[in-house]
Amino acid sequence: MSSSSPDERTLVLIKPDAVRRGLVGEIISRFERKGLRIDALEIRTLDGGFADQHYAEHVDKPFYPPLRTFMTSGPLVSLVLSGDQVIEVVRAMIGSTDGRRAAAGTIRGDLSLSNRENLVHASDSTDSAKREIALWFPALG
Ligand code: TYD
Ligand code: MG
Repeated sequence: MSSSSPDERTLVLIKPDAVRRGLVGEIISRFERKGLRIDALEIRTLDGGFADQHYAEHVDKPFYPPLRTFMTSGPLVSLVLSGDQVIEVVRAMIGSTDGRRAAAGTIRGDLSLSNRENLVHASDSTDSAKREIALWFPALG
């Protein structure tokens, strides 16, 4: 095949539980070993308003208030990754939302036992990746 589609980008967060547990290196290492590229990376502590913007689709859900408290509880690492079909690839690598049920071999399945403190966020579609990259890294948006 001589044709190839341009690489996608996705927004990944390494959440405050992962930073507290010293898992930043482990998680970034998995993405690097997969062959993904890091296009942007930053550490920051969110305020509630920014958490609301990031999780706009969830702000009215019952689980949101404790999720907001968790997401603003300490520094997190935000990064933009790129590679072939990176959105789908990274979602597969992080595993399903609830760490207790996520498959072994995934980041959540191997390292989390929680449905809230599940270590990582990753964009789930091309539309959400576009929106989230513009929010977190406006210079790349
Ligand atoms: P969601 O977008 O459904 O999951 P994912 O991170 O896999 O895309 O939910 C966003 C986050 O909200 C999720 O990572 C953890 C938290 N959450 C809860 O705390 N309780 C819940 O019941 C759900 C569904 C999510
Ligand atoms: Mg989601």
